[in-house]
Amino acid sequence: MSQRGQFSSKAGFIMAAAGSAVGLGNIWGFPTQAASHGGAAFVLVYLIAAFLMAYPALMAELIIGRHARANVVSALGRANPRPAVRLLGRFTGYYGVAIASLILSFYAIVAGWMLAHLGQPIATALGADSVGQWLSGDSHSRNLLGAATFSAITIAVVSQGVEQGIEKWSSRLMPLLIAILLLLIGYVFTREGAVEGLRVYLLPDLARATDPKLILNATGQAFFSLSLGVGTMLIYGSYLSREENLPRIGAWVTLIDVSIAFIAGLLIIPALYVAQAQGVTIFDDSGQLIAGPSLILQVLPSLFTSMGDIGLVIAAAFFGLMSIAALTSSISMLEVPVSCAVEQTGAGRARITLLVGAIIFALSSLIIFNFEPLFGWVIELTTVYSQPLLGMIFCLFAGWAYHRNTLLEEIKQGDDCQIEQQLFWKIWPFYVRFICPLLICACLIQSLL
Ligand code: PHE
Repeated sequence: MSQRGQFSSKAGFIMAAAGSAVGLGNIWGFPTQAASHGGAAFVLVYLIAAFLMAYPALMAELIIGRHARANVVSALGRANPRPAVRLLGRFTGYYGVAIASLILSFYAIVAGWMLAHLGQPIATALGADSVGQWLSGDSHSRNLLGAATFSAITIAVVSQGVEQGIEKWSSRLMPLLIAILLLLIGYVFTREGAVEGLRVYLLPDLARATDPKLILNATGQAFFSLSLGVGTMLIYGSYLSREENLPRIGAWVTLIDVSIAFIAGLLIIPALYVAQAQGVTIFDDSGQLIAGPSLILQVLPSLFTSMGDIGLVIAAAFFGLMSIAALTSSISMLEVPVSCAVEQTGAGRARITLLVGAIIFALSSLIIFNFEPLFGWVIELTTVYSQPLLGMIFCLFAGWAYHRNTLLEEIKQGDDCQIEQQLFWKIWPFYVRFICPLLICACLIQSLL
């Protein structure tokens, strides 16, 4: 079997893992959720959920992954020698692989829209107006081409392997993403209406911070945003050198993810109010801020159009930002089934990546042609139910299936100070055994009701 890949440096790993975490969930999901759930109250609860629940669950995946040095199916299958636990481990692994693939199948469609909207201002600037209209319209052919192009780019990166593909591209694209994000915020704040948006985003409606629905939404958002529950962080952890300090690296990834979500809110919500100042409708019939696909695909494009020529540059920058965010996440999704297939069959990475990528693109096409019944259903099945459920099982594996000392030994590797004396080790084992699973369970029950 070919040698396993490994990230070449700590910075490379952080870029890749933060790249996975920072995606459409941060730039689209988080700001709109915050806007419709009491602004800063949501932000506050989200911060608490991210550090007290998602971070410990992230650590469970990273530690299991680095310990097992294997894909999610083999890793969970070997956690404990008992046959029933082995079987449950393998089953959970395959469930994770299936969910990662399904998430990618709808994510590629949305990312395809972003690519098309990136192409639109370019086509318009080149005078190809009809192409621009087709790109920003909504047709099967446009959606298929968008998803196909995005899938092809994802496949091209993943087939290059861990260091030459995932790490190299994440390290190039993440700084670019942050630069575009900051430039766009700078621009939006020169426009009328932005400060009103800032007020909505940051003034807390603290009475809502204890609303159970808000707490559960914030928790779910934190899990999706940190790419938890589908083995993404597990497989990235398996490519991490034993010399690195895991609790610290995991904290960095969480911090970057949370910060970029927060900063994205400083762009999206003020931009909405700038659009309103331009006469664009930003509230739906029930008086709620427009939050679904039409926020990104209609409200913001109307704003860009109202800006004239500079709007073309801003539109290209914005949809470029979205496409980059989506790509560094999609490569981490594709790596889950690819690593599993490569390690189980011993076949070459390039061939496997193409094959798995093609199967997932076939799923995307199926969704495109059956959009109404399938799109929302797949999102709900994967992100609302399966991700938290799998996240809970991962915590249970880390907390119960492994011998406590096995994981302690793993964390000690690369740890320059005494981990047993640190807060992390005093709290984390208890957390993943009891608190995390219980909290996630509460989320699931709530979403079922
Ligand atoms: N974290 C990504 C986002 O915020 C989504 C994702 C989910 C990525 C699951 C990988 C695995 O958009």
